[in-house]
Amino acid sequence: GKGGYDHYMLKEIHEQPAALRQTLRGRADPATGDIDLEDFPAGTFADVDRVQFVACGTSYHAGLVGAQYLSAGGVPAQTFLASEYATGQPPVDDNTLVVGVTQSGETADTLSALRQANTSGATTLAVTNVVGSTAARECDDALFIRAGPEIGVAATKTFSSQVVSLALLAERLVRDVTGTRTDDTRERLGALADLPGHVQQILDYSSARRVAEEYRDSDAYFFIGRGSVRPVALEGALKFKEISYEHAEGFAAGELKHGPLALVTSETPVFAVFTGRNDEKTLGNVKEAEARGAPVVAVASDGQDAVHQYADEVLTIPDTHPDVAGVLANVQLQLVSYHAADLLERAIDKPRNLAKSVTVE
Ligand code: M6R
Repeated sequence: GKGGYDHYMLKEIHEQPAALRQTLRGRADPATGDIDLEDFPAGTFADVDRVQFVACGTSYHAGLVGAQYLSAGGVPAQTFLASEYATGQPPVDDNTLVVGVTQSGETADTLSALRQANTSGATTLAVTNVVGSTAARECDDALFIRAGPEIGVAATKTFSSQVVSLALLAERLVRDVTGTRTDDTRERLGALADLPGHVQQILDYSSARRVAEEYRDSDAYFFIGRGSVRPVALEGALKFKEISYEHAEGFAAGELKHGPLALVTSETPVFAVFTGRNDEKTLGNVKEAEARGAPVVAVASDGQDAVHQYADEVLTIPDTHPDVAGVLANVQLQLVSYHAADLLERAIDKPRNLAKSVTVE
């Protein structure tokens, strides 16, 4: 059942601290920097020379984060929409690792991209929540995200657990491929270990419902972020449109002025995500929106004074490593979407026209 919550989505948002503890359990030790990933001991990926992620929807956004982790660590990586993978025909050889990121393990587009990769000679790996799923069975190997069952059509806790799983996988890959650890391994692993507690803090004090109420009659909702939180901006918008049926779009912060700014008015709130890295630039983009009269809702930690000065509202997140801050920011945006949809009395757990797992291409 819904365990006292009005919707599975809200229950699953609140399950994130527990889900993340499960995802992390026994896999990373911040004190030593050691990584222990079941089927993937040190050296597993020594022959890999590039990584391609294939995924859809929310899982695609997690894949975008995964590729950033790898690229930053010196491993060439790209993320493809699974439905575009066949058309894109990216080069694949024996040393290519193709990672399907799929909560259900049953998404037809993702399965089809993985099958194509397999036929082309790549090694395939499923990052999935469902043991025994088609992706887990068909791929050469599987990494389970251990988020627990997700009933709501909107993917929430599985996104968080996917990103954390991909962070751990990236640590393993970077070490195997480059022979060195990521520069700040211990800080990173420490930030991952802190995530369950940090998410709990957000759940305890979030003002997302008040923000959703304040902007409930807007024309459209825009989400911006750069670098590690560009995928979070995209995900914020996907979740918002999926369950509220309101128009929402996510953009790279720097792209706002290259077109979308024409849509910005006093009736289009802009949600801007900050991580503590490259914030001045995003702040510049916020000012472009503000100059057109748009209300600005920042998602940022308390210490970011300049952000607080410019934003109309701030959804605060605990201070953490910039690469991990996106998971926290995303929880605030999940709550905004949930409350916006709840105020509109939408069918939150079963939005119109959508299915939990999409088994047609
Ligand atoms: O099961 P999968 O992770 O492969 O599903 C992919 C998408 O269909 C899924 O993430 C979808 O975008 C979510 N319903 C969004 O909340």
